[in-house]
Amino acid sequence: AEDKLDYVKSKIGEYPNFPKEGILFRDIFGALTDPKACVYLRDLLVQYIKQSQPEVEVIVGLDSRGFLFNLLLATELGVGCAPIRKKGKLAGEVVAVDYQLEYGSDTFELQRAAIRPGQKVVIVDDLLATGGSLLAASELVRKVGGVVLESLVVMELVDLDGRKKLDCKVHSLIKY
Ligand code: PRP
Ligand code: MG
Repeated sequence: AEDKLDYVKSKIGEYPNFPKEGILFRDIFGALTDPKACVYLRDLLVQYIKQSQPEVEVIVGLDSRGFLFNLLLATELGVGCAPIRKKGKLAGEVVAVDYQLEYGSDTFELQRAAIRPGQKVVIVDDLLATGGSLLAASELVRKVGGVVLESLVVMELVDLDGRKKLDCKVHSLIKY
């Protein structure tokens, strides 16, 4: 049988010198134009969480590429989902955290009402690079009283050592 992970990997685009000279950009959207890659990617992510975190109650996705996966996973797992957004986009009471990015800095926010105290959360995103985004996300989830079980990403840039920054379990499907 065809290996789902190899198939997805073969569809991820590579763009040298984007968004800056010297950076090799790994493009998840390149894979998502392929119908079979979409299904395989869904299967791989769902299967992983089912075996790793069967008790998950909320899937939190990071603005914006994490949104490709949080609703998808929530519906497959029968749980709810919530967005972490860049500042100024979320209504009501929010908590905020500043974070460093590979190419700058920004602020993430989470609605206080999105997660009830004690709820078990898995955070999902497309990519782990320096780890700044996932670190801020786990801080936000904890600020509103959630318990971070694990972070799950499609791709990890291993040489950037982002994983070292994080204080929760992290899983990546594809390592570069
Ligand atoms: C990219 C990527 C991850 C993050 C990883 O998002 O989608 O969320 O960077 O980098 P880090 O591990 O160094 O924090 P970006 O902020 O470019 O925004 P986008 O998802 O809206 O494209
Ligand atoms: Mg992102």
